[in-house]
Amino acid sequence: MQSETVIEVKDMHFAYKDGTEAIKGINLNIHKGEFIALIGQNGAGKTTFAKTLNGLLKPTEGYVKCDGIDTNQKGVIKKLVKKVGYVFQNPDHQLFNTRVDKEIAYAPINVGFSHEEVEKRVTEAAAVAGIREEHMKMHPFFLPKGLRQRVSIASILALKPKVIIVDEPTTGQDYKQSIEIMNFLKELNENQGHTIIIITHEMDIVAKYCKRLIVLCHGKILMEGSTKEVFSKPDLLENTFVKPPEVTQLAQALGDFGLSNDILSIDELWKEFSSHLGGEKFEKNTCS
Ligand SMILES: Nc1ncnc2c1ncn2[C@@H]1O[C@H](COP(=O)(O)OP(=O)(O)OP(=O)(O)O)[C@@H](O)[C@H]1O
Ligand SMILES: [Mg+2]
Repeated sequence: MQSETVIEVKDMHFAYKDGTEAIKGINLNIHKGEFIALIGQNGAGKTTFAKTLNGLLKPTEGYVKCDGIDTNQKGVIKKLVKKVGYVFQNPDHQLFNTRVDKEIAYAPINVGFSHEEVEKRVTEAAAVAGIREEHMKMHPFFLPKGLRQRVSIASILALKPKVIIVDEPTTGQDYKQSIEIMNFLKELNENQGHTIIIITHEMDIVAKYCKRLIVLCHGKILMEGSTKEVFSKPDLLENTFVKPPEVTQLAQALGDFGLSNDILSIDELWKEFSSHLGGEKFEKNTCS
């Protein structure tokens, strides 16, 4: 059974004030517990689309509903930020307080929680995000980028939104930091019940963590489906200059040897390859 719809997008268009039509008619439902990647070439409309999902940008046509609340309604912003949190691509565009604890407390204070509730939420969010006591009184500016990103996420987490959108969580980070941040998002998804949407250009990360992909191209959805379905159609993906991960491309290049076109990891590749070694399919393709 399909789980509860947390975001509903219907015939949605968005144009910037200068007339740029960034989103041109999107229909989409997002469900509780999903782990989604929004992918597509630069300028495809990923960030614009993500910002419409919590009311940071309002549709110019059609609608977005978060937990049943239409983002175009007046006076709903405080309700919306508790439903869908958006973490900016660059944490420095989000962090403006002079201390980490004040930064995390900012949104809960703003939506009107009591002093005790704010303190509780700050402590919880910092603990979940792995921010230690000694960092809490520091200026975010003096923390390394990975930690600044965690502070951005903690400041969103403090509102306990159902959906957390993270714009390019791994850009500019080394492999270890990328894995740390992605494992953290995985934990929020699997153990804390948050629906996660990431925007990324890194297809290895997508293959490892995301279950469903939305592919944007010139403001429209070019494809959407499970990670395997989407990556198994490299010809279509090429329209938005996205290539499947290298391991998938390798399996696809070896398709004549009977390998599947939707392999997502070295483990899967090896499993299939070894089952074909000595298997009928492999012999037929190599010896005929
Ligand atoms: N503030 C703005 N005013 C006018 N046009 C904008 C604005 N921000 C983005 N755009 C335009 O809207 C379109 C979609 O941009 P958007 O930033 O959403 O793409 P993106 O997929 O996030 O790209 P990237 O991968 O480079 O981050 C582009 O044509 C972009 O130039
Ligand atoms: Mg963007």
